[in-house]
Amino acid sequence: MKFLILNGPNLNLLGRREPDIYGRDGYDALCRRLEEFAEARGGSAACVQSNHEGDLIDQIHAAQGVYDAIILNPGAFTHYSYAILDALKAVDVPCVEVHISNVHRREEFRRKSVTAPACVGQICGLGPYGYEAAMEYFLRRERGAL
Ligand code: DQA
Repeated sequence: MKFLILNGPNLNLLGRREPDIYGRDGYDALCRRLEEFAEARGGSAACVQSNHEGDLIDQIHAAQGVYDAIILNPGAFTHYSYAILDALKAVDVPCVEVHISNVHRREEFRRKSVTAPACVGQICGLGPYGYEAAMEYFLRRERGAL
């Protein structure tokens, strides 16, 4: 399977940004880990990060016909981007939303995801493993092993 791992604002600062919440591994290390995870299972993962809402929307549009699944961490856009919600609804590529932190144990505003209704599901609080769990879900779904 071909995965698009799409990360939103501030996730380029992983490792430096609030490490007690997001961990000490950097964004590049996360990408290598996820690429290796996909390749070890006969697939591929392309990691893309942007701090800009429109870029994320363009990436979602461009995923149509190119990727089998999107694994999306929209960052703070999760909580208010109806434009990303609409972009996810506009394409036929299934998406799982991932959050590194447990958004339910933090500020009240993080509990609401406006983008998750356009996703198959949401994973949060499992750290970087959440991205792997999302890939594993799609791989099992593909071989009818759920
Ligand atoms: C996050 C949670 C969001 O609330 C926050 O704005 C982020 C990261 C996470 O991965 O835990 O940027 O999506």
